[in-house]
Parts: sequence; structure tokens; C-alpha cells
Amino acid sequence: MNWETIYRRKVVDAETAVSHVESGNLVYIGGGAGAPAALVDALCSRAADLRDVELIHILTFIGAPYIDSKYEGSFRSNSLFIGHNVRKAVQAGKADFTPIFLSEIPGLFQKKILPLDVALISLSPPDEHGFCSFGVEVGTTKPAAESARLIIAEVNQQMPRTLGDSFIHVSRLSHVVETDYPLPAAPQGDSSPANMLIGQHIAEMIPDGATLQMGIGSIPDAVLQNLHSHKDLGIHTELFSDGVVSLFEAGIINCSRKTFHQGKMVAGFLFGSDRLYHFVDNNPIVELHPTEYVNDPFNIARNNDMVAINAALQVDLTGQVCADSIGPVFYSGVGGQLDFIRGAARSKGGLPIIALPSTAKNDTISRISPLLTEGSGVTTTRNDVHYIVTEYGIASLYGKTIRRRTRELINIAHPKFRDELEHAARKLGYL
Ligand code: COA
Repeated sequence: MNWETIYRRKVVDAETAVSHVESGNLVYIGGGAGAPAALVDALCSRAADLRDVELIHILTFIGAPYIDSKYEGSFRSNSLFIGHNVRKAVQAGKADFTPIFLSEIPGLFQKKILPLDVALISLSPPDEHGFCSFGVEVGTTKPAAESARLIIAEVNQQMPRTLGDSFIHVSRLSHVVETDYPLPAAPQGDSSPANMLIGQHIAEMIPDGATLQMGIGSIPDAVLQNLHSHKDLGIHTELFSDGVVSLFEAGIINCSRKTFHQGKMVAGFLFGSDRLYHFVDNNPIVELHPTEYVNDPFNIARNNDMVAINAALQVDLTGQVCADSIGPVFYSGVGGQLDFIRGAARSKGGLPIIALPSTAKNDTISRISPLLTEGSGVTTTRNDVHYIVTEYGIASLYGKTIRRRTRELINIAHPKFRDELEHAARKLGYL
């Protein structure tokens, strides 16, 4: 039978597709900008028929209607990285959070630690050989789909066909729902003055020919905006957005000096505007892969001059970094931070960088503090930390004593908090 006949037999409407979800199932929802909005809505419409369905996902850039209290008893959300749409529910104990490295999420499914019954995903339309691309979300969604008993896929006319290890044949799909709607767009905003200064400091650290990873949050864009005088930059990252397209078009990113996947931008997922989604469509310079590959610290280290840039919420005077909670209140997740900090640390010429504005809440809180707030998790340990950057400069901590680290960190704290920090450091015996 040719693939078109196989495909046509699988096409159903969204209601029929989700009728295959059963009470007690473990259901994966495709992540990021590839979240399957029509299937999620159809599943929520079936709530009255379902009990105890656990919904596993990373951050999704669509709504999360399933956390509504009216669905209690039918659905329970379990985030592997907390996004804005479930944050309040997690913080209120109405949804769950599972801490996990982005590089190890595929293993949770493959090793049946989270034995998925169903994967709800979005794909590009099939090519002439019957292969659909996972489009903008390959990282955790491809391994999840391949591990699930049932794959229910939206085939969205507007999902770009990204290349790399990003394909699935239509014969592997259980049910198909054809859709045609635009992907969610990332908000594009101006960078704050503090973030622009951070971007300038980091740009000064980055050598020509470096390969970049940019984490999540407002700092990566500010860094990219400061790289217009650089040459021959490359990309190996879990996620990238429009800023990379601008630098590619300006001839600054060309991946020509990469030592791993030379000539290619490697990523796990993508989130940006239509401009990005058009750029990556069928573009051989962009390759998407599962995060067990992209975020594997040993693969990351195969890039010489690997620069990892990740943000944080708080740093203590010994260099412990918290990026996923504010005290005991969960905010996001570790994501790929430690994967890339460790990979960059192993890379020849690598630069593991943590960047954060020196203050929060209109300069009322110093993000550099004597101790982490009680209940904070350590995202990057003081043994892993190398460079911390704020708008006041760069602290180089690796291989340094607690006394020297304390001095370096006080020097990049907001001036209004430096005396306080110095006093606290003396009390703690750090100075
Ligand atoms: N105390 C209290 N509140 C704080 C704070 C602190 N020390 N630091 C930050 N905040 C508040 C901010 O004021 C802001 O609140 P608001 O939204 O009410 O203004 C909020 O926390 C978020 O801080 P901000 O610095 O604006 O976050 P961001 O959007 O730039 O993202 C991280 C930064 C660290 C949250 C983000 O990078 C992340 O989630 N990282 C996870 C780990 C990682 O880097 N993984 C790699 C990528 S997958």
C-alpha cells in the first residue's frame, strides 16, 4: 500500500482522535511552539468521560486549559519545565513539577520511567516519501512520540519542515487530524538597559568563530544584539529565536568554524515570529535533533570555543546559582542550563556563562546575596560555575577561593547593596 493510502485512512476529526485517550492514561503533550492546540481543546471537551489522566509536558506556548479547576479529577498536569501558563497552578499545588535535565527527558520515556500511553503532537505535512517533520519541536517531542503506545498527530499546514533527526513516517502514526493555523509567536520586546549592558559584557568575551548556546529568558536577545561586529559564529543550542536569523542574514552567523556539525545550526526547538518559522522551513543550514543528542554535555564539548549563556534568578557569594525557583516557590526548571554549563566547561576554549541583572523588583532586591533564599534549589553548583555577568561586569570564579569569589561577586553587585554584602560576608567568615 502506498503511503498516501495509509495516511488517508488515519485522518479523523479531533474529537474522534482524542476518543482513544482512556482514564488513567499517561499522555504527553507536544511542547513549545509545536503544542497541538486543537487536540488539547478536544481533549478538554472530553473531560467528563475521563478520570486521572496525567498530562506530561515541558513549557508549551499555547493555553493550558486542562489546569482549570473544573477539570480536577479528570486531568493533572505534570511539567518537566514550568511555563507561564501553568506556573500559578504549580505554585498553588494544583499541578505537578518533575525536576529533570533537558538532556535526560527522552530517557524518562525510553526507559519507561514515564511509560507514555499517548503522545499528542504537531507535525508538518508529509513529504513525497511520506515523512512528516516534527517542525519547531523535535527536542523532547520526537523521543516522546517514538516511546508512546499511540501517536495522535495534528498535521498542521503551517508547521515548517525542519531538517535533521526530525522526521517520522506516516505509517508510525495512529491517528491524524489535519489542521491549518499559525504557530504561536514569541513576544518581541526591547531589551532593558541592564540587559543591554550584560549583552555588551558578554559580547566582549565571545571570540570570533565561537559556537553559541543561549538559554531562555530576556538576556539571550540582548547578547545577540551586541554581536554585530563578530565573525563566523556558530549555533549549537536547545532553543533559538529571531535574533539568530538577523545575525545569519548579516553574515555573522555562518557556522563555518564549527568543529561539530560544521556549517549547520543545531537546535532542539525553536520559538519566534513568522520570520523565524519561514527561515527554518526546508533550510539545510538548520538541523533539529532530540535533546538527548543536542544537550548531551559530551556532544556540546565537541564544539571548540563553545559559549553557553544562561540566566539566573539568584547567586550566592560562593557562586551557587539558582535559576528555577524563588526560594521554595518553583518558577521554571533546570532545562538545559547544567547540560550546557558542563559541555562548555569541557570544550576547548569554552566559556560557561551565567548572566543576570544585579537586582530584581525595581532595585529593591539584590540578586547577588550572601546565602541563597531558604528553599532555593541549586541549578548550577559552585563547582560548575565559571563566569557570572551582571550589568556591572564579569566575575570569574572558577578555581578561586571563597574569599576571592566573594570579592569578585561584590564587585559586580549593584553599588547600593555592596556594603551590606561585604558586612554579611564578614559575618559568614567569607572575607
Ligand atoms: N528574588 C525575587 N524575585 C526575583 C528574583 C529574586 N532574586 N530574581 C528575579 N525575580 C523575579 C523578577 O522580578 C521577575 O518577576 P516579574 O515577572 O514579576 O517581573 C521574575 O522573577 C523573572 O525574572 P527575570 O529575570 O525577568 O526572568 P527571565 O524571564 O529573564 O528568565 C530565568 C530568567 C532564570 C527564570 C530563566 O532563564 C529560566 O527559567 N532558566 C531556567 C534554567 C535555564 O537557564 N535553562 C536553560 C534554558 S532551557
